[in-house]
Amino acid sequence: MQIQDLLFSQGFGTRRVCAGLVQQGLVAVDGRRLTAAEEDFDPVGLRFVVQGVEWMYRERAYLMLHKPAGYECSQRPGAWPSVYTLLPGPLRQRAGTAAAGVQAIGRLDQDTTGLLLLSDDGLFIHRMSSPRHHVPKVYHIETSHRLDQSQLEALLSGVRLEREPKPVRAAACSQLGERAMSLTLTEGKYHQVKRMLAAVGNRVERLHRSRIGALELPPDLPPGQWRWLEPSDLLALRGV
Ligand code: URA
Repeated sequence: MQIQDLLFSQGFGTRRVCAGLVQQGLVAVDGRRLTAAEEDFDPVGLRFVVQGVEWMYRERAYLMLHKPAGYECSQRPGAWPSVYTLLPGPLRQRAGTAAAGVQAIGRLDQDTTGLLLLSDDGLFIHRMSSPRHHVPKVYHIETSHRLDQSQLEALLSGVRLEREPKPVRAAACSQLGERAMSLTLTEGKYHQVKRMLAAVGNRVERLHRSRIGALELPPDLPPGQWRWLEPSDLLALRGV
């Protein structure tokens, strides 16, 4: 693949911009500064440096973000900045898919923190977000009021939510403290956790997603930081 096409596919701008980056000596492979935009490379596993930053060619992008509070998951947010501003430009501009760049898989509310997956692989996005696949998501919740056994039992047996034809139930839940619990959901309805807690007479004070399927938010990934998903992470997610 010509280096200009490779850079284009990875989100470094139009082909013309990518050719310009090479011609200006801003791209290096194996410590060698390139000059010819048409130079061919085998893209698989290729490591390259653009303006001092090292990248690896990836046909598709799969990543996790530790979403901080105060960010919206929308591409065109209203009152808060978008989570996409936390990603480097090339990830937002990757070419080759119908919608440019990576997309968040499901959404977290502006005030929710925790694990958010993003990808530009349409099949993967569909598999992870489709209600038919029942991918479990684990939330850590701090509540305004004391929790009691009857609330947990109601969450497990199913609560009625407005505009939902059937009762909605948690796949699992456990009390972690007087006002703290974990809740596992296999669906992703709008504001589902907050509505479920309201339905049992409580209120969500803080909401954090700690796990999706077999993938746990790594304790060393600080809020606002992102990381590529490793092949082992993808295997864990595909196995759900
Ligand atoms: N449920 C909610 O209410 N909010 C979220 O951000 C995620 C799940």
